[in-house]
Amino acid sequence: MKRRDFLQFLGLASVGTQVSTQLLAGVDKLPTPHLPNLAPSLDDKLSLVEGLNSEILLRWGDALNSVDKFGFNNDFIAFHPLSESSALLWVNHESVNPVFIKGTQRTKENVDLERMEVGGSIIEIKKEKNRWSLVKNSPYNRRLTSFTEIPFAWPEKIMGSNTAIGTLAGCAGGYTPWGTFLSCEENYDMFWGERDRTGKVITQSWLRWNEFYKIPPEHYGWVVEIEPKTGKAKKLVSLGRCAHECAAVTKAKSGKIVAYTGDDTINQHFYKFISDSESSLESGKLYVASLEKGEWISLNIEDQPILKKNFKNQTEVQIWMREAAKMVGATPLDRPEDIEFDPLTGNVLVTLTNNKVNKNFYGSILKISEKDNDPGSLKFTHETFLAGGKNTGFACPDNMVFDPKGNLWFTTDVAGDAIGQGPYEGFGNNALYVFLRSGTHKGKIIRAAIAPKEAEFTGPCFSPDYKTLFLSVQHPGEESPSLQELTSQWPDGGIPKPSVVMLQGPLLDKITSGNL
Ligand code: FEO
Ligand code: CA
Ligand code: CA
Repeated sequence: MKRRDFLQFLGLASVGTQVSTQLLAGVDKLPTPHLPNLAPSLDDKLSLVEGLNSEILLRWGDALNSVDKFGFNNDFIAFHPLSESSALLWVNHESVNPVFIKGTQRTKENVDLERMEVGGSIIEIKKEKNRWSLVKNSPYNRRLTSFTEIPFAWPEKIMGSNTAIGTLAGCAGGYTPWGTFLSCEENYDMFWGERDRTGKVITQSWLRWNEFYKIPPEHYGWVVEIEPKTGKAKKLVSLGRCAHECAAVTKAKSGKIVAYTGDDTINQHFYKFISDSESSLESGKLYVASLEKGEWISLNIEDQPILKKNFKNQTEVQIWMREAAKMVGATPLDRPEDIEFDPLTGNVLVTLTNNKVNKNFYGSILKISEKDNDPGSLKFTHETFLAGGKNTGFACPDNMVFDPKGNLWFTTDVAGDAIGQGPYEGFGNNALYVFLRSGTHKGKIIRAAIAPKEAEFTGPCFSPDYKTLFLSVQHPGEESPSLQELTSQWPDGGIPKPSVVMLQGPLLDKITSGNL
């Protein structure tokens, strides 16, 4: 019997039920009572399971200093410790909703205001009595926006230029071993549209910024590396161009740096980059996954006659990486989103959020086991780690983070206009789940927090002591047609504000220490 059929056969009704491989192996465990869990909800509030509490760290529009403000639609959060009680956070500002900025009319004035809302924020935070807060006016506090000039780290020009104007669409990201952050430019086409290799427009810009600025879309869709203390950034052309969700970095047994990254678009691909160096991601070799073959296929023009035939040089391959990936036989996937390394096994987990074209509404988490557990290997096996659906109680897994006990904290992203509708009826608003892999309740999934209306949680990030989980609440009320018809008023009443929240509490401590 297939795993999924078997789960259905068991009649697992919702979260809080045993779904681990233990159960599949026939280990008979009676459900232990008193497992805290939330029922699905469509309320316009941040709901928390018993044993968790929350506080808002930053809201959209909060002043970071006399000049800079916290941008819109915060996403990825990265933590860079400065001392035991102070740190820098990098926070992506992925997108804008013109309804909440200055209005949907397309004027240069409105577009310029929107351009200031995206990019990222670097902020200093300090901890007093286990409570983190913003250090307003810290010399570290700064914004990167869609106006910030950023060089390409590549020996050749990209569409005639060595620099890009700004970064935007930063979704999730990653860390490097040398203390920088990676921010991944995802749905850049909503800002600047998209063209194919022949220059034909294949996606129109939804925000129509391109009516006011002649900026090539090829300058976006890159992984951006940022120094936390200076804000100095560069676009890593080496990792190729696509709707990058995140970049997860680790080391091969050889010591070389390996970065995994997925293209969050229906039937796009999963990539791996093996650096030439142990201290840089600027040059190396790019591969794409064939699940059928269990192989990483080279995207180097010198290795692939078909690429040699269709592209002038490696720079073209990097810019139109999707097209190159298809030519070499990459496996189309169900929107690869976040990537994390399982601390218990070393496996690479990838959320495949959904694929509406293939009628896969609930998504899954894919497990990749590299040969010899070596990220530098070019062979791997794969299987489904967890499947979304009515049985497991979650739909559309997206961002993930592990705690030191191997418990998997993950968020979901059902589109705002689909929440509670059709296949998503009964799932409630998007939520934060924990797949417990240690302690008495090993193998169960709990719904730990529920987002306000039309929001998704993104960017889960633990403080180094695991006493605080930083979490973005992104796009509450995103379907609001106007300021007079708000679909969410979270968090303060009135205009909804994307915000960073901090979760703490005895339940967080118990789970992350394996004592639940
Ligand atoms: Fe910005 Fe794929 O989520
Ligand atoms: Ca995402
Ligand atoms: Ca998402």
